[in-house]
Amino acid sequence: MADATDVKSPETETRTANLSLPDGQSLDLPVTVGVENECAVNVGALRSETGYITLDPSYGNTGSCQSDITFIDGEKGILRYRGYPIEQLAQKSSFTEVAYLLIWGELPTKQQLENFSMLLTENEMLHEGLRNAFEGFPPYGHPMAILSAMINASACYHPDLMEMSGEDDFPIAAAKLISKVRTIAAFSYKKSIGQPARYPNPALSYCANFLHMMFSIPYGRYEPEPEATKALSQFLILHADHEQNCSTSTVRMVGSSQANLSASVAAGVCALWGPLHGGANMAVIEMLTRIQETGMSVKDYVEKVKKREMKLMGFGHRVYKNFDPRAKILQKAAADLLDKLGITDRRLEIARELEEAALTDDYFVSRKLYPNVDFYSGIILNAIGIPTNMFTVMFAIGRMPGWIAHWYEAYKQAGRICRPRQIYTGPTERQYVPIAER
Ligand code: ACO
Repeated sequence: MADATDVKSPETETRTANLSLPDGQSLDLPVTVGVENECAVNVGALRSETGYITLDPSYGNTGSCQSDITFIDGEKGILRYRGYPIEQLAQKSSFTEVAYLLIWGELPTKQQLENFSMLLTENEMLHEGLRNAFEGFPPYGHPMAILSAMINASACYHPDLMEMSGEDDFPIAAAKLISKVRTIAAFSYKKSIGQPARYPNPALSYCANFLHMMFSIPYGRYEPEPEATKALSQFLILHADHEQNCSTSTVRMVGSSQANLSASVAAGVCALWGPLHGGANMAVIEMLTRIQETGMSVKDYVEKVKKREMKLMGFGHRVYKNFDPRAKILQKAAADLLDKLGITDRRLEIARELEEAALTDDYFVSRKLYPNVDFYSGIILNAIGIPTNMFTVMFAIGRMPGWIAHWYEAYKQAGRICRPRQIYTGPTERQYVPIAER
């Protein structure tokens, strides 16, 4: 493992927090302050000094690491990658540039971006053996299951993904994953609809190439719509990182055992799949479609949510207690895209009506529940032509640079294996009873 040389030290803080325990013990704990003045009580010495541990199921109050990558202020609705506001990146940058920024910490020069794009292009093909592995999946196999399995399997065909012998190998391993995840996603879609896989076209940009692999057919001409390509790039930028969310924490946790990069991000794909995390984008569009098809009123749906018969999917967030800035950008982007492509989608109106109803209702206001990144994203994806069961795969393509950046940061920090403790609540010691006597 490398030295932790390029990871910034947080402000050395002279303040301490004093902890008094019920058995009379007392301990001064150092306070760690981040560059945005976030304060943490550093409990590193707690157990060794006192025998106590902290208990924080679901980690709502736990800082699991120090990180230079992404800053969120959930109270103010701020999100920045490496210091750059998400609004500026979404408007001015490209997904490949943002991927570079997240992983290497600075916006690339023209030459650096060209080199990185070339590396992505050189690594966009799948090994033919891996391509054949798609045959083993049934056509109705869930794309997220296929994605995580194929990312893991890719390490069998590209051993350099498994064995990083030094930091020099990292850029290629990172480029392989960012590039191939897109090819795997498109191949699995083609397989699911019974069409031949389309090989990547090296002349196309990252996003246009993905659309080409998804929607072109061998006997027809296909030009990705520039509006669709731009919307896709923006979608991927907005999903590219979000500090210590469930899937990223999973990647860091798996990586802490010194598991290789592809195994770690394959685990991230599995964590992302759940409807409380990345799977919410599918759940939102299903919810909007259900409301549209059944003709249920928005008011009735909100009442059902308040009676806890269902959740308002795409609402609420562990960190944001204000607007998720990504949702604001995506709401506008959805309207713009439908307009430019000449598509009418009643579900956008339903989503807006739901948002309005929720934001004026005490149930949501008192709990500080606002639309999150998933609330409007599905309308954009459907308008581009992405089927609903691929939505979470799209999230995974976007999140790949973030996962890689976090895995790499943790690799350089060379910390200990992540291994939380617990408070045991099962039976106390008892004697084994032979089966005949039970
Ligand atoms: N609809 C209705 N009520 C909600 C919602 C919702 N979407 N979200 C939270 N609440 C309520 C909870 O029932 C709870 O109420 P209570 O205190 O009366 O019991 C309160 O708000 C706090 O919610 P928690 O579930 O404790 O919040 P937590 O931080 O654990 O969960 C989460 C956050 C998972 C995002 C939650 O808001 C949720 O389930 N939202 C819907 C799923 C979703 O959109 N997920 C995507 C998140 S963004 C992402 O991962 C990309």
